[in-house]
Amino acid sequence: MDTPSSFQTDALIAEDIDAYLAAHQHKSLLRFITCGSVDDGKSTLIGRLLYDSKMIFEDQLAALESDSKRHGTQGQEIDFALLVDGLAAEREQGITIDVAYRFFTTEKRKFIVADTPGHEQYTRNMVTGASTADLAVILIDARKGVLQQTRRHSYLVHLLGIRHVVLAVNKMDLVGYDQAVFDGIVADYRAFADSIGIEAFTAIPISGFKGDNITTAPSANTPWYGGPALIEHLESVEVDAAAAQAAPLRMPVQWVNRPNLDFRGFAGQIASGVVRAGDAVRIVPSGKTSTVARIVSMSGDLDEAVAGQSVTLTLTDEVDCSRGDTIAAAGDPPQASDQFCATFVWMDEEALKPGRGYWLKLGTQMVTASVQPPKYEIDVNSLEHLAAKTLGLNAIGVAEFATDRPIVFEPYAASRPLGGFILIDKFTNATVAAGMIEFSLRRADNVHWQPTAITRDDHAGMKNQKARVLWFTGLSGSGKSTIANEVEKQLFVMNRHTFLLDGDNVRHGLNRDLGFTETDRIENIRRVGEVAKLMADAGLIVLTAFISPFRAERRMVREMLEPGEFIEIFVDTPLEVAEGRDVKGLYKKARSGQLKNFTGIDSPYEAPENPEIRVNTVDMTPEEAARFIIQQILPLK
Ligand code: ADX
Repeated sequence: MDTPSSFQTDALIAEDIDAYLAAHQHKSLLRFITCGSVDDGKSTLIGRLLYDSKMIFEDQLAALESDSKRHGTQGQEIDFALLVDGLAAEREQGITIDVAYRFFTTEKRKFIVADTPGHEQYTRNMVTGASTADLAVILIDARKGVLQQTRRHSYLVHLLGIRHVVLAVNKMDLVGYDQAVFDGIVADYRAFADSIGIEAFTAIPISGFKGDNITTAPSANTPWYGGPALIEHLESVEVDAAAAQAAPLRMPVQWVNRPNLDFRGFAGQIASGVVRAGDAVRIVPSGKTSTVARIVSMSGDLDEAVAGQSVTLTLTDEVDCSRGDTIAAAGDPPQASDQFCATFVWMDEEALKPGRGYWLKLGTQMVTASVQPPKYEIDVNSLEHLAAKTLGLNAIGVAEFATDRPIVFEPYAASRPLGGFILIDKFTNATVAAGMIEFSLRRADNVHWQPTAITRDDHAGMKNQKARVLWFTGLSGSGKSTIANEVEKQLFVMNRHTFLLDGDNVRHGLNRDLGFTETDRIENIRRVGEVAKLMADAGLIVLTAFISPFRAERRMVREMLEPGEFIEIFVDTPLEVAEGRDVKGLYKKARSGQLKNFTGIDSPYEAPENPEIRVNTVDMTPEEAARFIIQQILPLK
């Protein structure tokens, strides 16, 4: 499949980051994110950090000084916001990213700051920036105090597992550096932080514009402040590398390095734990065990490697292991399952379609996953759980997920690399959601596939035919049922073993609990697809007559079957013709508003792009259409 654009963007950023990290190898790294809206002074603060740490090139500085004078936005003082916005504009030329990463260093540490647009709609940018951050700076405008947006950002920061929070109360100059204002905001925030489980935070009164408490503290304007300056705090905060190393070994395999017959290494970044030559390891999900022979790195063989390092492992045995597998501590492997519960943030304009298959990317694994209707949506302002049938743009919810094969994961709280995932739309390749796994569903561990002795080939062979699924799709009244009936009659005469599943009939029994919302239609087709597959396993030629309006679900059924078994037949009757016939009088009802969500009227029909067979019911009778179809599918042996 094509690489989704967001990954390409990541790769570009990764290159910059690698070069930057190499230049400052000896210093420890802190990744942080700034949250706040433009009005909170975020750009000014970031500009100030870059300026004070001398990361601004001379010529940029000169340009900035003259710009500030020209714009006159801040009198004679340098307007740092101009600098950051200027850089952002540069960066965005050619590459569309909503998160700008900036790098700066001080004597003690190097930093990567993710600068995300602060507008309320931009949850997705924040989630992207926050997913790799160790610390979050939550900016507050001292004149406004704790706002709904502060709460929203803090909730996301906590949800994404950021353990270090700085509450930067900005624009202190505009409230006369009043300690009472600062203390009041801190107390407000503490009450909220407690309620969502943020255990601790560091509050600092600052002025990004004037520079108070940025590099040294206390500033002459805040003699009452006893804590560190912002940069001092960022330089000294302990980010917990020890915890990742204390956890059991997990290394998701990125690729298998096989330059010649004598060498076979598994390359990847260690997500947690420590690995040493001689360690017993287990490959998940296969469960095979082996022993680490060598740890190969760019700078030669290593005795041990720890979380965060990228290495190549060789094993003492020829075990099967490929991209997407995880090499883990033999005695303490992660789970592999095909069902789990997760909290996720929806990031697409088009709402979640429960039941639809999306690509799920978790580390190096890529599988098809479907999402159940959410258990609830979380109101990030009140933290209430709301009933929800789907999630729209920027909504956060909790739901159960099912994947088409087991994947290796851990709860996000235990491991960000093995617990965080994204969903990708299979048609547009857009990243539509980011999720955090809460726990595996036990039922998945206890249901196993039961192999049967008589195979599907045996079943079909006995009937002297090959299994097929003739999938008719088209508008209501297009003629699907009539033609499918005719095809079945003609096959019957030819001694073929068939079965016809018809929309109206199946909706009286198996699917009588389903209506015509998108979600129900997806579930309708999922069930019919499963039934058609069982019948094909039994060796039958199955005919289905369902509107099946969505490409994604028709493709899903195609992928469930063997190559060549699924034959899509598009009954290509124009809406005017189907509506003109209106055998059941449903179009009339739909036009008069008595019937909602009617296909072709107020619910979409996505016509097949490459059906195996297309029939035109304007120039052909149903008998002729049926003969035409049978000619195309013969021989059936
Ligand atoms: S599907 O979209 O989920 O594939 P299905 O083929 O099962 O639809 O059912 C379509 C039949 O249900 C139509 O032929 C029509 O008789 C009936 N029907 C009732 N309400 C609707 C509706 N809102 N939209 C389409 N068909 C409807």
